[in-house]
Amino acid sequence: MHKVIFDTDPGVDDAMALLFLHRHPEIELLGVTTVFGNVGVDLTTRNAQFLHREWEITAPVAKGAGATLDQTRTDDCAASVVHGADGLGNIGVPDVVEWPLDPRPAYQFIIDTVRENPGEVTLIAVGRMTNLALAVQADPEFAGLVKEVIVMGGAFDVNGNVTPAAEANIHGDPEAADLIFITPWKVTIVGLDVTMKTIMSSQDLAEMVAAGDKSVKLLSDLSQYYIDFYRNRVGIDGMAVHDSTACVYLVRPDLFTVRSGPVRVVCGGLADGETIQAPDSGRKFLGTAWDGQPSQWACTGVQAQSVLEVIRAA
Ligand code: BDR
Ligand code: CA
Repeated sequence: MHKVIFDTDPGVDDAMALLFLHRHPEIELLGVTTVFGNVGVDLTTRNAQFLHREWEITAPVAKGAGATLDQTRTDDCAASVVHGADGLGNIGVPDVVEWPLDPRPAYQFIIDTVRENPGEVTLIAVGRMTNLALAVQADPEFAGLVKEVIVMGGAFDVNGNVTPAAEANIHGDPEAADLIFITPWKVTIVGLDVTMKTIMSSQDLAEMVAAGDKSVKLLSDLSQYYIDFYRNRVGIDGMAVHDSTACVYLVRPDLFTVRSGPVRVVCGGLADGETIQAPDSGRKFLGTAWDGQPSQWACTGVQAQSVLEVIRAA
């Protein structure tokens, strides 16, 4: 059984990933922590509460960071073009959803849960990495007790989606992401290199709905805005299932090709949020910020159809 804490900014593709984690028979969801991103943290938290209520998910929800590590930025208004002003495709989620919140801030929930399950917990982060960074800052030694970190974010051999250099989750808090990549724990990065190849067609989604599952019907309803974005702005019929792809990595790493080497994030300037991986061996550089940093794992290839099958099967 994979024990997971899901750090998320729901978010349409986050919602799909949450349903996957909730349903997969080999996954035990220990908690869901929220972070600002696709919309502000009040809304991502409300959305997590809503999805928990609708899908009867009992894992605790802990509210997390509402701004970047350096406190200078909150939600990225541009993302509402993708996910809707409410973060869930403007389907009319009530302003307030009665659903319990864990009293701890997300970073403390993460630390406590990992310390209660040493060596067993995988952190899957599919939003800004601010909560994870706050946890590392508050308790650097907890990192050694984490089994693995899987993040959706970054763009290595392809363009970003916010700027040509940067992907949204990294661009939204570059300092936090950089700290996560230079922390001595195992991080696997599932970025646009693979998630933009993993496209669920609207036909696939319609077939899933036709099977008569009420939870999938809600997922389909809230995905329509996101599908329209991909149709009108990206020019494809379907949607990139970024966050679910990161979750599939947990159970089927064999479907991905990975490359190892230290990863740093550009903080500031034109390339703000760019992820750069140094080769693990071979080429030496004349003094760089990559020297002596831990190797991390970036996904460079994916068997996309098989990933989509795993998502559909859950
Ligand atoms: C990432 O940004 C968010 O909009 C999505 O939920 C995903 O986590 C893709 O760049
Ligand atoms: Ca997300």
